[in-house]
Amino acid sequence: MRAISIINPGPDYKLQLTDIETPEPGPHQLLIKVAAAGVNRADLLQAQGKYPPPPGAPLTLGLEVSGTVAEAGAGAPFAAGAPVCALLTGGGYADYVLADEACALPVPAGVGLADAAGLPEALFTAWTNLIDSAALKTGETVLIHGGSSGIGTTAIQLAKALGAKVLTTAGGAKRCEACERLGASLAIDHHTEDFVEEVLDVTEGRGADVILDMVGGDYIGKNFDAAALKGRIVNIAFQKGTTATVNFAPMLAKRLTFAATTLRGRTLDEKRAIRDALLKTVWPLIATGALKPVIDSTFPIAEAGAAHALMASGGHFGKILLTA
Ligand SMILES: NC(=O)c1ccc[n+]([C@@H]2O[C@H](COP(=O)([O-])OP(=O)(O)OC[C@H]3O[C@@H](n4cnc5c(N)ncnc54)[C@H](OP(=O)(O)O)[C@@H]3O)[C@@H](O)[C@H]2O)c1
Repeated sequence: MRAISIINPGPDYKLQLTDIETPEPGPHQLLIKVAAAGVNRADLLQAQGKYPPPPGAPLTLGLEVSGTVAEAGAGAPFAAGAPVCALLTGGGYADYVLADEACALPVPAGVGLADAAGLPEALFTAWTNLIDSAALKTGETVLIHGGSSGIGTTAIQLAKALGAKVLTTAGGAKRCEACERLGASLAIDHHTEDFVEEVLDVTEGRGADVILDMVGGDYIGKNFDAAALKGRIVNIAFQKGTTATVNFAPMLAKRLTFAATTLRGRTLDEKRAIRDALLKTVWPLIATGALKPVIDSTFPIAEAGAAHALMASGGHFGKILLTA
């Protein structure tokens, strides 16, 4: 089968189609004939040699796919031919990929087969951080940084659909307008506005109950200032840096909780619990049209390098897909 290999991993990496063995499903695994694979910023880091795959994961790129079940291993409750999407530990940039049934879901009603590849990584991440870690509740205010990202466009819709008031940050007026069309009640342009001032202004000084951050750096301290009493802050990335000089006084005074999480290295049982929660609560929301994947662009798999270049440029809004 065809799969994308990383040539010269590092800052000048290239992506190239190569032929590799088609894998065979073991117990509880699905062999998926890939319709589309989602591109994630983590893929760029992996190709640059900065994010090695966890033990046992395929060396080829690709953390999420959609497609049809080509073969189901023993104990995997999906029929051959069933349309599915799945979270992976790797290998999605290929004609076929193995997924554990614990990380697979049916393609939801109302979503096209290829577009469903844009759901798993963003929804598993948004759900487990907003709900499991930050315990976001109906009626609360959430600040989502990076609202224009694949994760952000999904998190905005999810939080809104669950009854939260959504504030977000994005770079530039057009991206802010697009975030507001997705359901944010206020999108703050981080190029021209101070998000702490804006959040405190719109919440009449209270601050945000929950903050989902992928920026880090000086945002770590600013998030403490923008949080409400008993606020919960969760970092999923530190794009602006993993170190910062931070005034912890607001954390103490406001009794804040600060957490950081990753998804890829979690156990199958942990991922199954998220999958089950998505099926129960989020799949019905998708069926009503309250939430949909936001697809910026789609490239043929042979043009994976161009898809990475687009993500590296930051010119996209939402998800970038590769079609097999
Ligand atoms: N921990 C986990 O489990 C986990 C899981 C999935 C993803 N992630 C992380 O989540 C992030 C989003 O992933 P993705 O695949 O959705 O990436 P993406 O679509 O490329 O989004 C990244 C976004 O971050 C924003 N950004 C970058 N630098 C910024 C800065 N200095 N200040 C403010 N905003 C900045 C950009 O938005 P603007 O151009 O609008 O500013 C950009 O669209 C990545 O960092 C990824 O590694 C973590």
